[in-house]
Amino acid sequence: MKLNAEEKAMLAGEQGKATQKAMEILVTLGTIYNAEGMVPVTSVQIAGVSYDNLGEAGLDFLTEMERGGGKARVLTTLNPAGMDIENWQALGIEPEFAEKQTQVIDAFARMDVITNCTCTPYLTGNVPHYGEHIAWAESSAVCYANSVLGARSNREGGPSALAAALTGRTPEYGMHLEENRKPQITFDVQADMVENDDFGALGKVIGEKLQSLEGVTIPYVQGVSGADLEQLKSFSASVATYGGTALFHIQDITPEAGQFESPENVIKVSQLKLALAKSEMTDGDVNNADFVSLGCPHLSIKEIARISELLEGKHVVKEFWITTARPTKQIADRMGYTETIEASGAKFAADTCCVVAPIKGRFTALVTDSAKACYYASGKNQFQTILKPFDEVVYAAIGEEKGQ
Ligand code: F3S
Repeated sequence: MKLNAEEKAMLAGEQGKATQKAMEILVTLGTIYNAEGMVPVTSVQIAGVSYDNLGEAGLDFLTEMERGGGKARVLTTLNPAGMDIENWQALGIEPEFAEKQTQVIDAFARMDVITNCTCTPYLTGNVPHYGEHIAWAESSAVCYANSVLGARSNREGGPSALAAALTGRTPEYGMHLEENRKPQITFDVQADMVENDDFGALGKVIGEKLQSLEGVTIPYVQGVSGADLEQLKSFSASVATYGGTALFHIQDITPEAGQFESPENVIKVSQLKLALAKSEMTDGDVNNADFVSLGCPHLSIKEIARISELLEGKHVVKEFWITTARPTKQIADRMGYTETIEASGAKFAADTCCVVAPIKGRFTALVTDSAKACYYASGKNQFQTILKPFDEVVYAAIGEEKGQ
């Protein structure tokens, strides 16, 4: 790989041990992917923050980088942690876990990483613009940043994202190169797209199809007449989970779609296919479910306002987690949404989510509107899952069929 003078100095250890280790990681990655050189990045998002995923080996790695003088050179935020940093007791987190999780967060803070723990950094101040080179790790956020914002990011791992933060560089390959951003296959949607879970189901259908096609990862979607931010974040999370994709184009909606002709190979997505995908994500009975969660990916303030409206004067009959970024929760506090939601018995779970928190074995069945949450609740936590539209998830929490 071609390195400039500053990158060579980093690699030679002239800017400290942590920077050297970070550059070694990036050069190794770049060599594997045949990158010609490095590209400067302006924003980083690091995944692998929950102690439940990191374990002792991950904490040791962070400690080594911090003691080696590592400091973030560009705006860097974190993915969700394994607990609400301020209110972990209310979520039933063990003190031993909380202590380890706090050590992880503190290590990042000492490296000048902003400890905003969220998978929707684009809702809380880490918002790259069109064409900006970034190094993000959370798969749903990478997909959103590439596709909806038009930024350029590969799907980084935890160590490579941290390395990008400490050097301000990432190897220039994959999504950073214009020629790799062309759509390869068209999906023609002939179905009603109204709710978040419709977009989640669409992500599953498209993602699974992509998985079955060798070397095809970038879909061009047509037939969707409109999609708001929340629907696009649902779709990003789902297509990234089920298809491993980092970029999609939706005709007349995402910014790069207009630059391309729709690929000739067209696959139709019917109403029936969506219904089938939804039914595949439901293997439990809502009446027997003992856990309800909204906020995968983390909720926007608009979604929290809706939950507050639906919970006004009601009482939940199941454990109900509202997962979001801390700054979004702070807006909810100011607007009085938090008071209404907590008066119902529902719990805010800021900084964390129902997938990365250590809750395996605590519940048997989850009600959610998220296709991604279904995938991990089933695979990681072995919960049964029930996929419902957003409002109906809230009704499930209060034990009502529909709003009564
Ligand atoms: Fe975010 Fe957790 Fe879902 S990190 S995308 S809420 S699995």
